[in-house]
Amino acid sequence: MTTSKRRYHITTFGCQMNKADSERMAGILEDMGFEWSEDPNHADLILYNTCTIRDNAEQKVYSYLGRQAKRKHEQPDLTLIVAGCVAQQEGEALLRRVPELDLVMGPQYANRLKDLLESVSEGNQVVATEPIHIMEDITQPRRDSKITAWVNVIYGCNERCTYCVVPNVRGVEQSRTPEVIRAEMAEIARQGYKEVTLLGQNIDAYGRDLPGVTAEGRHLHTFTDLLYYVHDVPGIERLRFATSHPRYFTERLIKACAELPKVCEHFHIPFQSGDNEVLKAMARGYTHEKYRRIIDTIRRYMPDASISADAIVGFPGETEAQFENTLKLVEDIGFDLLNTAAYSPRPGTPAALWTNQLSEEVKSDRLQRLNHLVAIKAAERSQRYFGRIEEVLVEDQNPKDKTQVMGRTAGNRLTFFTGDINELKGKLVKVKITEVRAFSLTGEPVEIPQPIPV
Ligand code: SAH
Ligand code: SF4
Ligand code: F3S
Repeated sequence: MTTSKRRYHITTFGCQMNKADSERMAGILEDMGFEWSEDPNHADLILYNTCTIRDNAEQKVYSYLGRQAKRKHEQPDLTLIVAGCVAQQEGEALLRRVPELDLVMGPQYANRLKDLLESVSEGNQVVATEPIHIMEDITQPRRDSKITAWVNVIYGCNERCTYCVVPNVRGVEQSRTPEVIRAEMAEIARQGYKEVTLLGQNIDAYGRDLPGVTAEGRHLHTFTDLLYYVHDVPGIERLRFATSHPRYFTERLIKACAELPKVCEHFHIPFQSGDNEVLKAMARGYTHEKYRRIIDTIRRYMPDASISADAIVGFPGETEAQFENTLKLVEDIGFDLLNTAAYSPRPGTPAALWTNQLSEEVKSDRLQRLNHLVAIKAAERSQRYFGRIEEVLVEDQNPKDKTQVMGRTAGNRLTFFTGDINELKGKLVKVKITEVRAFSLTGEPVEIPQPIPV
C-alpha cells in the first residue's frame, strides 16, 4: 500500500525577497507531504516565483511557463502555479494567457499556499492577488543553504520611485514584530545556521507601522533598535541586512553597525543616479551630495566597510552629461560591487508614460561604459585585501575545483581556499588572501577552528 509522494519543483526569479518567499513556500509544501524534485519534468507540482522588475525578467517567465503548460496536456494532474510579482501584476490576465494554470498568487499570499492549494484540489482555478495582511508563518521554511538564511523584517514598500513596480506588486509596508523576528532567528540558529540577512525593500522604514513612540517622539521600533534587539542571538555569528535607502539612512544605524561585533561592515545602499535632476525625476528624495555624505560618515566610523549599490542608466531624459555624473560618483566612491541596469519601462509606473524615453542603443552603450568602470573600481577595491587575513564563513565546495571550498568575507567578497567541505562547512576560517580579482579572492587557511566539544 505504498503511495508515492507527490513531488514539487520551485523555480525562483528576482530578488532576495522572492528567495525568502520560495523557501517558506517549500516549507509549506514539505509540511503537506510533498518531496523536492530536482528535475522539474518529474514534478507533480511546479511553482514559478516570478519577478517583473524589468521586462526581460518578466519575459523569462513566459518562456519557462510555455514548456510546462504543454506538459499539462499529457499529465492533467500536474499542478501549475505562478507566484510572486508577475502574478500580482498580471492577475487574471495570466489565466487568459496561460489557461493551463491552476493558481496565480501574489507575494502577500506566500504563507497561505496550503489554503490556496486546498481550493485548487476542489477543482478551482484560483487567483489570489487582493491585498491582505501578511500572516505570520508557522511552518519551517525549507532553506537552500544550511549556513546562511534570509529573514524578512518588513514587507512591501511605500516609496513611489517613478520607475519601480515594487510598490504595485508588493503592497504597503508591513513590519513584523521584533519578538517574532528574534524567535525566527533563534530557531534558525538552533538548526545550525551561522549567518542571517535581514530583508526589506526599504529596511530603514522598519517599524513605522508598529505602535509606540519614545519620549523624544521617535518611533519605538526603528531598524536600529531592531539590530540592538536581535544582534546577540546565540549561534548566529554574522548579521547582514538589505536594502538601505539613502533618504532614511541614519548615523545612528552606522554607529550600531560599528558597535555590534556580529553585524558585518557591509552596506548595500542603491543610489540609482549620480545626477540631482535625474534623482528628482526618479522621486528618490535625496541628492548625490547627501549620498556622498552618508558614505563619508560610514567610512569615518568604519574605514574598511564595503559598499555596494544599484544604479540605473538611461532613465527617461537622461543626458550624456547627467550620465557622466553617475560615472563620476562611481569613480569617486569606489564601490566594492555595483548592480547596474538599463532603464526598462514598467507597466503602471509614471516614468513609463513619459515621452522622453531613450533608445536601446544609448541605454546599452551607457550600461557598457558604466560596467567597464565598475569592474576597474572593484578590482582596485579588492587590492586592499591582498596579504590580509580575513575571516571567511565557509558555505560550499567550489563547483569548479573540488579541492577548494568557498565562502564570503565579512565585506561580502567571495573567497576560495583549499580545504575539505565536510570538515569546514559552516566554519569561520581565518584565511590569508594570496590572490585578488575584481569580484573574488583566493587565499590559504591560517587557522582552522576546532569543533566545540559537545
Ligand atoms: N528597494 C531597493 C531596490 C529594489 S529593486 C531600492 O530602493 O533601491 C532592485 C533594483 O532594480 C533597483 O535598485 C534598481 O536599480 C533596479 N530597477 C528597479 N526598477 C527598474 C526599472 N524599471 N528599470 C531598470 N532597473 C530597475
Ligand atoms: Fe522600488 Fe523605490 Fe521602493 Fe526601492 S524604494 S522598492 S526602488 S519604489
Ligand atoms: Fe523582482 Fe518582485 Fe523582487 S519584482 S526584484 S521579485 S520584489
